[in-house]
Amino acid sequence: MSTRTDAWVLHAGPAGDGTSRSAVRGTLSREIFRLPDLEDDEALVEPLYGSWEANIDHALSRQPIDVCRSRHEDPVILGNLGVVRVLRPARTGPSAREGDICIVMPFATRDRHGYAELVYAYDGAGIGILAKRTKLKADLLLPIPEHTRYSLPQWAAYARYFTAWDNWRVAHSCWLSQMDSQHAADALVFGWGGGVVFAELQLAQRAGFRVAMTASSDARLAFLTEHGMTAVDRRSFQDLRYDPESTGDNPYHLRRYRDSEARFLQTINTLSDGAGVAIFIDNIGSPLYRAVLKALSREGVLTSVGWKHGMRIHNLRASACIRRQLHVHTHVWRYGDSARIRDYQEDTGWMPTIDVDAIYDFDDVPQLAADYEAGKFETYFPLFRVNSV
Ligand SMILES: NC(=O)c1ccc[n+]([C@@H]2O[C@H](COP(=O)([O-])OP(=O)(O)OC[C@H]3O[C@@H](n4cnc5c(N)ncnc54)[C@H](OP(=O)(O)O)[C@@H]3O)[C@@H](O)[C@H]2O)c1
Repeated sequence: MSTRTDAWVLHAGPAGDGTSRSAVRGTLSREIFRLPDLEDDEALVEPLYGSWEANIDHALSRQPIDVCRSRHEDPVILGNLGVVRVLRPARTGPSAREGDICIVMPFATRDRHGYAELVYAYDGAGIGILAKRTKLKADLLLPIPEHTRYSLPQWAAYARYFTAWDNWRVAHSCWLSQMDSQHAADALVFGWGGGVVFAELQLAQRAGFRVAMTASSDARLAFLTEHGMTAVDRRSFQDLRYDPESTGDNPYHLRRYRDSEARFLQTINTLSDGAGVAIFIDNIGSPLYRAVLKALSREGVLTSVGWKHGMRIHNLRASACIRRQLHVHTHVWRYGDSARIRDYQEDTGWMPTIDVDAIYDFDDVPQLAADYEAGKFETYFPLFRVNSV
């Protein structure tokens, strides 16, 4: 018997001319959606809390792709990271039991080593958790620890931590491959971005590095300081945006850019005793790339999982080779590491603090989408509530 569910859905945008410039931002609409029958390896679940992730915003802005069109599905239900309760377990395969509370592993397709290729309910197939009921492959359900010390909203923010764990594992190994005789305490790990960078910098802190992160609000700067990081106010270099196609041609923009870049590089100089950044975590992309490369030390590692403001970059290979700089790119995490990362979180308290009063109700999801787009959050871990616990 098929199940109908109350859901926020996204429809395909206009065809456009295939360039990102022609993309028209989509809106979520509240509809009754008919869930296809459960396959033998699928479980019926009710989402409890979802995490508002950048991938949902990328899907709404249809940047860099219109996920409905690329998946040939209309509509789609987004939302791939959150806490769900199992209502009906899968009939075959590994399965969580009825009533188990699980976090969702967002793997639509993975390569033969277990790394994500397409992301579930985003660029890959799958019905997301912006719905009162949904169905999931049972092997995407990872139960939270039975006697966990942490709340469900804290668990709901896991994905930025899992992504950070995987990126840090690779970036740190790369740095050590050339710098095994340098003390971490003398090396600066610097990042800009959101929750992924924050979580990753906590791992850098634990590994003994100096850490610093930018933010653009007093509340976030205070939050970073409370967590023992050097907080850098990026409002003091607000013209740090370089567009290779236009900035150089406009003397006014170029001058403003250069002023901001000089202030930024002076900050890095001070924080690193003149050495530059040992590991730069940059999930913002193109407009900051020039400044990132200037800030990076010799033998430095530039590491990324994101391209929030642009994915096309221009690289001088000779310069990168001569300076022995390593560039790391990762995506999601390795499926087989999922339980290990969850246990690391539980065992070591690598967990966010969540203000439950700031969690959005299901009815308010469009407001959440608008607030995220406008950058209105104090938290790095915005959440929505789907069903009551
Ligand atoms: N490939 C993957 O597996 C994966 C996984 C997770 C995330 N990502 C990507 O990584 C990116 C970041 O995601 P997230 O969830 O950590 O953060 P997020 O929620 O996207 O927040 C990004 C933050 O970056 C800061 N920012 C915005 N513009 C900036 C600029 N010009 N310079 C410096 N900082 C700027 C803003 O904070 P302030 O204004 O306070 O500075 C903003 O809140 C996204 O593009 C996302 O798609 C990729």
